[in-house]
Amino acid sequence: MAGHAPPRLRPNSLRLGVNIDHVATIRNARGGDHPDPVRAAQIVAAVGGDGITAHLREDRRHIRDEDLARIQAATNLPLNLEMAATDEMLEIALRHKPHAACIVPERREERTTEGGLDAAGQHNRLAPIVGRLADAGIRVSLFIAPDPRQIEAAMQLRVPVVELHTGEYAHAEGEQRAIELRRISDMAALAALNGIEPHAGHGLTYDNVQPIAAIPQLAELNIGHYLIGEAIFTGLEGAVRRMRDLMDEAR
Ligand code: PXP
Repeated sequence: MAGHAPPRLRPNSLRLGVNIDHVATIRNARGGDHPDPVRAAQIVAAVGGDGITAHLREDRRHIRDEDLARIQAATNLPLNLEMAATDEMLEIALRHKPHAACIVPERREERTTEGGLDAAGQHNRLAPIVGRLADAGIRVSLFIAPDPRQIEAAMQLRVPVVELHTGEYAHAEGEQRAIELRRISDMAALAALNGIEPHAGHGLTYDNVQPIAAIPQLAELNIGHYLIGEAIFTGLEGAVRRMRDLMDEAR
């Protein structure tokens, strides 16, 4: 069925999931149908992206409910649904059965997902949601800060995947950036050592992606805002291709 194909594998591969939320942000600015995030998903599929990521927010500021089924029907790429740990989102995920669900923290007033999920402090709230998603065959991931307590919490929740938040790394400069990179690299290794597949994302650009892409344990990067921004200047096709090339070059 469209949208449920397993991720494609390349030797020594690092998958690129493209977050198409901000195509919908532009569409919603005028309230019509254009630009359609489904068309973006089809372009990503055509130029070698490995997955589509979309965050259905509580306020529906970008992706909307009806977009999910349309995206699943339009491409064979696996859909990674980013979702808050709420009953409403759980019910939607169970209905659409995306390939993966990445549980993210969500605050209405934030402009983007600013920090990682406090998996360590919310075990009891997350456990039943993780369990229901896993029982439905959905690959569950937690979007967490690169912090050993969060990896430990992810192990206790028995999730197969964690996505390490690269926002601190992306915003840091000089020596601090090296410290943040080390944190991500150490936590990717710790996750992998404990049987959890590490992914990473947030704030990645052509300029900062390569040190992250070079971390050998990482299996997937999810990149959105920068790619959609670049697409304005060079087209989505060219932007995804260039990111893909930079990632491959760093491996
Ligand atoms: N991964 C997750 C879990 C996200 O929530 C987001 C968007 O906030 C991204 C990746 C992509 O981040 P960006 O749009 O900054 O590339």
